Amino acid sequence: MSRPKAMTVPALRGMKRKGQKLTMLTAYDATFARLLDRAGVDIILVGDSVGMVVQGQPNTLGVTVDHMAYHGTAVSRVVERSHVVVDMPFLSYHVSDEEAVRNAGRLVQEGGAHSVKMEGGRERASTIEAIVRAQIPVMGHIGLTPQSFHVQGGFKVQGKTESEGQRLLEDALAVEAAGAWSIVLEGIPASLATEISRALTIPTIGIGAGNGCDGQVLVIYDVLGMEEDFKPKFVRRYASLGGVVTEAVENYIADVRSGAFPDDAHSFHKRAGSAKGAVRSAGPVTEIGSNQDERPVNSSASGGYGPSESLPA
Ligand code: KIV
Repeated sequence: MSRPKAMTVPALRGMKRKGQKLTMLTAYDATFARLLDRAGVDIILVGDSVGMVVQGQPNTLGVTVDHMAYHGTAVSRVVERSHVVVDMPFLSYHVSDEEAVRNAGRLVQEGGAHSVKMEGGRERASTIEAIVRAQIPVMGHIGLTPQSFHVQGGFKVQGKTESEGQRLLEDALAVEAAGAWSIVLEGIPASLATEISRALTIPTIGIGAGNGCDGQVLVIYDVLGMEEDFKPKFVRRYASLGGVVTEAVENYIADVRSGAFPDDAHSFHKRAGSAKGAVRSAGPVTEIGSNQDERPVNSSASGGYGPSESLPA
């Protein structure tokens, strides 16, 4: 099945009509954003989960618009194909619709967002309408809404009873009617998510909401198994990088301590009989060759911030 080149809002909405599943993952920095974009993920979410997985906070409530704009910029700067959604953090859209439009606009202008995401159902209808009127696409988010941490009593599955489920269905319909182009369904029973997905024309993107949604989202660090002890039921790990990182760092420490790193192959050398490219370092005059940068050794994972030429033997 052919997939659209640029993941615009119309293209993403079209995927639901064609029965194509949408894929979304979080990223908070340029390195991960580049990897996810190249791998072909449809949507990159700069989630306010950044507060927990990057900032080390216990929940998302401490995240600000400045934080989201900063991480949004890092991601949107390098993305070529994926649609970039930036989360509106707690208190950035709760005070007034006017303030919400201004903050959503900041995430577009400063953070490079293609869409913004906000939590809540019918109570957010007027805010979603106002932001959509400002020509900013909105993704909704209902069910387990992390910014309601204290109201919901922690990260708890929602919509387990008939009446709660009915209320969530009505919330989803209200978010769609207000003009959102998609909606995240988080932490709700699979059967309810399927019912909501069938009732809506806009794509639903599930996390802990079963297989009946139009797409799926996960936090990238969970997918990669960065945190050994964090194994929630709804996450499938596709790698165990936490252990890989620890082992690599332990090997690096051992090599530095034993003197095995850096060895000759990872050091710069004088070129015999030539003064070309000589630079003065803290010590004696050192020649690094005319085609060599003076900056540190290249890192391919970084996208290349060091010398562009290969290192001399
Ligand atoms: O902030 C986030 O990462 C999210 C996803 C979990 C949907 O909102």
